[in-house]
Amino acid sequence: MQLTQKVHQRLTAHLKAGDLAIDATAGNGYDTLYLAQTVSENGHVIAIDIQEAALQSTQAKLTHAKLNDRVELHCTDHATYLQELCNSHTAKVSSILFNLGYLPGSDKSVQTLPSSTEKALQASLQLLQPNGLLCVTAYRGHPGGIEESQVVENWMRAQKKLGHSIECHTPPSPNSPPILWLLSKSEQPHD
Ligand SMILES: C[S@@+](CC[C@H](N)C(=O)[O-])C[C@H]1O[C@@H](n2cnc3c(N)ncnc32)[C@H](O)[C@@H]1O
Repeated sequence: MQLTQKVHQRLTAHLKAGDLAIDATAGNGYDTLYLAQTVSENGHVIAIDIQEAALQSTQAKLTHAKLNDRVELHCTDHATYLQELCNSHTAKVSSILFNLGYLPGSDKSVQTLPSSTEKALQASLQLLQPNGLLCVTAYRGHPGGIEESQVVENWMRAQKKLGHSIECHTPPSPNSPPILWLLSKSEQPHD
């Protein structure tokens, strides 16, 4: 099973109708569309991407599926936006998704970066409800990918020490395959 399929499988098991979910890297909109379908009519999705081209692609998919009403799109840096959202949405979000790297078929120089990714993950933890699900797919095949993947791994291992549940999945391959991290937020993390 591909990691994207695994993510969608876990989201289906986790999300309930009416939930609030965030796609922190909307890209071409496949995951945003999936979230919008899964949270159903009364649910809501916040989708963020730093590139206008990505949001146009996401918007087109939502329009085709007639699901625009349940999704808000934000063209901005996810670390900045998620930190701001903590003022109003702390512990209100059911699931947050990161699919790191660059927009397929576009300018590879615009990619997620370790320092803002770490800030965005920290804000995400605050935004998640207890038992909320954080999904992070990190790619190691592009320049900077290994460093970013290591930052994600270090961050995830630190969260495990605080009592959150962590899972890691990677396909068997000798060629630096992507890694999927899943974090389930503890109801009572240690200090
Ligand atoms: C691998 S793509 C995401 C694919 C997407 N999940 C999908 O279903 O098509 C990664 C996306 O992250 C975006 N990105 C890079 N840095 C970002 C940042 N600081 N804040 C928000 N989005 C960012 C890129 O523009 C790119 O579209």
